[in-house]
Amino acid sequence: MEPIRYEPEEVICRCKQVTLGDIDRALHNHTHFSDVEKEFAQVQKMTACSTGCGGCHDKIMAVISQIISG
Ligand code: FES
Repeated sequence: MEPIRYEPEEVICRCKQVTLGDIDRALHNHTHFSDVEKEFAQVQKMTACSTGCGGCHDKIMAVISQIISG
C-alpha cells in the first residue's frame, strides 16, 4: 500500500471533523501500542472519529497502522 502523506490539518473524518493531527495526538497519549484494532477503538473513544457514516474507517485504520509501525 502507498504510504499516506501526513498532513496534520487534513480532515480524515468529515462527519466528526477529525484531523490526522487529532489521530496522531490521540495515539501518542499512551505509550503502549497493542494491535491496530485496539488502537482504533482508543482513538475512536477520544476523537469520536468514524462514529458517523463510517466511511473513513479503512482510511483511519491505515493511518493508525502507519503511525504505530513508525
Ligand atoms: S467520515 Fe468519518 S464517520 Fe463519516
